[in-house]
Amino acid sequence: MISRDQHHAIGITRLRRSIRVIRVSWGAQMRSWNSMEEFEAFLDDGGLVEPDDDMPDAYRQAVFRFIELHANSEYMGGLTERDWIAKAPGLSNKLTALAKTQDEIGHAHLLYMVAADMGVKTRDEMTADLLAGRTTFHNVFHYRAYTWGDQIAIAYLVDAAALASQQAVFKNCSYGPYKRILRRIIVEEGFHMRNGEELLLKMAKGTPQQHQLMQQGIERWWWPSVQLFGPDTRPNDVLLRWHIKSERNEVMRDRFVQKMVPQLQAAGFTIPDPDLRQDPETGRWISGEIDWDALSDAIAGRGPDSERRLRDARNAWDGAAWVRAALDEAAAVAA
Ligand SMILES: [Fe+2]
Ligand SMILES: [Fe+2]
Repeated sequence: MISRDQHHAIGITRLRRSIRVIRVSWGAQMRSWNSMEEFEAFLDDGGLVEPDDDMPDAYRQAVFRFIELHANSEYMGGLTERDWIAKAPGLSNKLTALAKTQDEIGHAHLLYMVAADMGVKTRDEMTADLLAGRTTFHNVFHYRAYTWGDQIAIAYLVDAAALASQQAVFKNCSYGPYKRILRRIIVEEGFHMRNGEELLLKMAKGTPQQHQLMQQGIERWWWPSVQLFGPDTRPNDVLLRWHIKSERNEVMRDRFVQKMVPQLQAAGFTIPDPDLRQDPETGRWISGEIDWDALSDAIAGRGPDSERRLRDARNAWDGAAWVRAALDEAAAVAA
């Protein structure tokens, strides 16, 4: 019988093996470009940049920062999920929380490896920066999940918002390793979102108390999820120009609102936006004013739960020191 920690160690070893397969699969061949114009033309033609290519430094830095933010967010999201393995009601929900935790931490591992291959920072440096609060992670992981209703709202709203942004990146992503990793991540995020939908419908049809718990969860997580997409994209956003993002933030945010409002209303829930209205001609839903200060505060580490989250992350990192030591020892023995 192996322990849960040993399970984790085996999982990490498997991930390392799978990333090695991904690394060798493209057949490294360094390419270079004479000018930014030439490089951008390559990207516009649908070209995929690989880690060994002599890419412009501005592109390397921008893509690295984007992937590091994504990796940090998966990691912090995984730790939130882990909190619910013990608290989720019933065995089936505990198993789902366990599987989701493994997925999210797995996404973080894969993304950190892709980011480290860009040669900007090592993985240890990225971890140290995250735990010291020097780098950022998504706003939604700066809030606290108090109840099972919050946890379902996260699966239903936050996983759906994250999936929508990741799909938009995957569609046109110019950085090869990131695109390949996203293919796998998106499949798993799709399961998370479906799980959220199923649980939300269960609560909708449940007792008045369950309905109320779910409504409170929606009230706490609606705005952070809408804000997750970010303010309207600036006209000169290099992430769009360099085909990292394929859609403007406001387009993705609008699509999210159009999908979620009717679903939540049909399930008997209220959207916590008193100014939400429907255009009588187009039938499209228009949100009230969005508080962008809440987004920037959260990302800057001044969110309602930022401090506790980072403290928990530091404790989790320190608590798993023996796993890292065991893996390093095993690698040294095998070498
Ligand atoms: Fe994830
Ligand atoms: Fe997820």
